Amino acid sequence: MITVTRPYLPPLDEFIPYLQSIWESHILTNNGQFHQQLEKELCEYLGVKYISLFANGTLALITALQALKITGEVITTPFSFVASTHCLHWNGIKPVFCDIENNYFTIDPERIEALITPYTTAILPVHVYGNPCDQEKIQKIADKFKLKLIYDAAHAFGVKKDGSSICNWGDLSILSFHATKVFNTFEGGAIVCHDSEMKKHIDDLKNFGFHDEVTVMAPGINGKMNEIQAAFGLLQLKYIDRAIENRKLVSEFYQEKLNDIPGIACMTLVENIEYNYSYFPILIDRNKFRKTRDEVYEELKAQGIFTRRYFYPLISNFAPYKGLESANKDILKVAENIAEKVLCLPIYPDLEISSAEKVCKIIKA
Ligand SMILES: Cc1ncc(COP(=O)(O)O)c(C=O)c1O
Repeated sequence: MITVTRPYLPPLDEFIPYLQSIWESHILTNNGQFHQQLEKELCEYLGVKYISLFANGTLALITALQALKITGEVITTPFSFVASTHCLHWNGIKPVFCDIENNYFTIDPERIEALITPYTTAILPVHVYGNPCDQEKIQKIADKFKLKLIYDAAHAFGVKKDGSSICNWGDLSILSFHATKVFNTFEGGAIVCHDSEMKKHIDDLKNFGFHDEVTVMAPGINGKMNEIQAAFGLLQLKYIDRAIENRKLVSEFYQEKLNDIPGIACMTLVENIEYNYSYFPILIDRNKFRKTRDEVYEELKAQGIFTRRYFYPLISNFAPYKGLESANKDILKVAENIAEKVLCLPIYPDLEISSAEKVCKIIKA
């Protein structure tokens, strides 16, 4: 069986000393030694100023919106994982879906302005598949209309543009360290921010709102990452470059084998980036290829290869959101079209090239 992804695990024996240290200290959570160390090492690795670790990416998203006191309406993309929109719902915010760009699958900046109303307070774009959004254009709109900008960078661990981390963009960025992500801590996540005051504010919010022992400054949540997750993250960091390099080999193999097939298109990466090879989405055009996307999906499944139709259905088509005015399929034509064609192929650091070859053979058969 080959799955679309498989969590990277470092050698178990190298994890034991971390566990011994936790057992000795009896410090299991609440900003322990490994938590502090991971925040420091991630800032260095990613090239960002401040990071606040979370138990998962969804809590990081929910807290980011709280930290900036976002209310009313937020413009976001329907072409993402549901958590990108659920975080708005959990904050009592109305999501406003904006169509996406045809080549890069990220929010289309040309369509954002038309969706702004007196209630709009922020834009929440997603670097989907780790492909960076058009920051320059989006930031200009945010500045012009005085909107906050929160990036869902769950897929974008380690991605750089023009030599700098894309997590430095906007007001805040959130990361996910879920088991399926490029960098995982079993479950986990983070908010990246630019100044120490905001970092302290976020740290308070993820700890029930406690500012100090006797002061609760806001109705915060329990979003803390524990010491086992943080220790695991520190060990993972030692292997992350190798893991990304292996993903790159798989990605290049697919690219070479599939790129010239009429009716199959690989994702166009934004220029001047250092990519993390987090996903390998292809678009299957039923008019030009002999088979539909779903036929290819079923054929692969029948042979034990489990691809995923990320991100189909669109978030805007799920029950909690489909009644919204902005969920109308007629105004999300590009996203609807991509969601009908997309298929994410298996990619993970220890995927054998022979397995990738098998995937390609079945697709082409
Ligand atoms: C784009 C996106 N945003 C948010 C999340 C939520 O992250 P988590 O699973 O860590 O809560 C995920 C993935 O799971 C995601 O893919």
